Parts: sequence; C-alpha cells; structure tokens
Amino acid sequence: MNPAKSASLNFLRALPKAELHLHIEGTLEPELLFELARKHAITLPYPDVASLRRAYQFGSLQAFLDVYYQGVQVLRDADDFYALTQAYLAHARADGVIHVELFFDPQSHMERGIALTTVFAGLTRALDEARHETGLTYHLIPCFLRHLSAAAAMQTLEALLPFRALFVAVGLDSSERDHPPSKFTAVFERARAEGLLTVAHAGEEGPPEYIWQALDLLHVARIDHGVNCASDAALCQRLAATRVPLTVCPLSNVKLGVFPDMAAHNLKRLLDQRLCITLNADDPAYFGGYLLDNYAAAQDALGLTRNDMIQLARNSIEAAFLSDADKRPWLRKLELEGFPD
Ligand code: ADE
Ligand code: ZN
Repeated sequence: MNPAKSASLNFLRALPKAELHLHIEGTLEPELLFELARKHAITLPYPDVASLRRAYQFGSLQAFLDVYYQGVQVLRDADDFYALTQAYLAHARADGVIHVELFFDPQSHMERGIALTTVFAGLTRALDEARHETGLTYHLIPCFLRHLSAAAAMQTLEALLPFRALFVAVGLDSSERDHPPSKFTAVFERARAEGLLTVAHAGEEGPPEYIWQALDLLHVARIDHGVNCASDAALCQRLAATRVPLTVCPLSNVKLGVFPDMAAHNLKRLLDQRLCITLNADDPAYFGGYLLDNYAAAQDALGLTRNDMIQLARNSIEAAFLSDADKRPWLRKLELEGFPD
C-alpha cells in the first residue's frame, strides 16, 4: 500500500465510529459457514469456500437474499451465534468501531426451530465479552421479515417481548419491492407502545413513497438505506430539517446494483444537502468489506474531504441510540479543530 493510502486509512481508523446498519447474519464468512456446515453435517450446494465466494455476484436485493437465507441455515446453537458475533467483533475492533447497533432476523431462526433464547445467548455472550474487554458498547435490533405477513411479524414481536430488556428497537428488512412499510403499521404501533424505538429499511430498491410511509406510519427514528429519497425534493427537505438519519451502505448499494459503481453513489450530494448520512457495512461477508472498507471506498470514489469523513463519523454518533452523556466524549473527540492528524 502506498504511504498516502496507508496514512488515510489510519486517519479513518482513528475516527470513533458507530456501526448502525449491520446484519449479524450478513457477517457469516464462507470459511465459518463451511466449518459450521461440517459441524452439523449439513451438505452445502457448493464444493468449497472458493466456489461459494464466486457465487457472491448479485444483480438485485432478491438475488442476494436467496443466498443469504441459505447461509443462515448453518447457525444452529448458541456457540454458532457466539462464534459468528465474535468474528464480527474482531473486524469492528480493527476498524475503530466504538459502538454497534446490531440487526438480526429472529424469524429466519425461529422458523427452523431455533429458540430465541439460543440466539440471544450467543449474541450477548460475545457482545458482553467485547464490552468488558474493549469498552465497545452495543444495542440489539431484531428485524421483521417484510416478505412474510404482518400477522407473522406480530407473533414474532410477542415472542420477543419476554426478552424486552435485551433490545432497544425493532426493524424491518428483507425484500422491499411490493412490501410497503404500511403493511406493518399495527406491529410497529405495538412495538412503540412497549417503549421500543423503530427503524426500517426503505428506499433501498423501493420508491420514496416507502420512506414517507416509514416516517409517517411507522414513526421510525432512522431510515436504513433511504438513498432513493434523492428523486423527491420535499422528502429530502424533510429529512434534512428533521435530521432523521439515513444509514447508508455504499459497498452494499454497488454490489446490489442500486448504483452502477461507487462514483455514481449519491451520498455526497445528500451530505451536501445537510441530510444526516451515516456509513455502514450492511452484510460485509457478502459485499466485500467491513466498515472501514466502506469509509475508504466512499472517500476514494467520491473525493470526500477529511472534514466530510469527520462529519460522517460525527453523524454516526449523533444517530446512535445512545444517551447524550454517552455521545459527548466521542463528539468531543471528533471536534474538527481537536482531531489530530
Ligand atoms: N437483510 C439483510 N441485508 C439486507 C438488505 N440490504 N436489505 C434488506 N434486507 C436485508
Ligand atoms: Zn440492511
């Protein structure tokens, strides 16, 4: 690596960053996937790690989700969820992540007979260990699968409520097209009545109308992706005025064909319109990079300045579900004049 590139990576690594859009199932690297398949005597439709990796070419969100849901099948016991989370946390630490809000998909485990206790046990064991060892803080956000029914989401919420103390918000993910946020209005209302915050994937492949619905019907605190807001000036104005954050995932957007290449990504234009844009990894094992890779790829392709990168890190802290007191030291560290070279 040339010295300028290495200095730039060191700068990005040293920025305190919150990861706010990370599907833990999307951190399952092929090596671990094969190891767990062997452990549980599961036959995979790929002969080896290299051929599985070669299959990671996706023209659309659905093409990706088909492979992703297949991968999830190897996660069976608490040790599997622990190993998965521990492996992710090693990347987070190396990338300078100081806080993570981690998504998981309860329905893709419960439908295979895996108990929620098992999932929570594995995730929290790894996250609590990391918190004790490194100070990295975390929140959990279970997401409803929008390709399944609203009734199934409501049942899932009921099943989650005994674990209410372990998560701060609920989310909405999976196939966006033809599954508008409006389908889940009642479920999200019930979640908010329980004191939960809400987030939703919207405007990844879907239209700006889905972002309006997420705001007005689901009352979300953040929009996941949201990049399709750009074609609706009134929506952009609203997002800028309210500072409702968009958790943008640059490498994911390019891999799934939302933008033809990184140079065409609109995040710089949205940032310049004063929207609260954060950078995130989404499903790093499938999209070719963790958080630092997303920061570096966006900076290189879009000519983002050091101040832009500081602003993106600052936005990630501002957008996190942390108290003002917990945010303050990180924001102070990021104050423009105080941040060292
Ligand atoms: N589940 C995992 N990754 C996702 C994404 N990028 N969009 C929707 N659902 C997902
Ligand atoms: Zn996502």
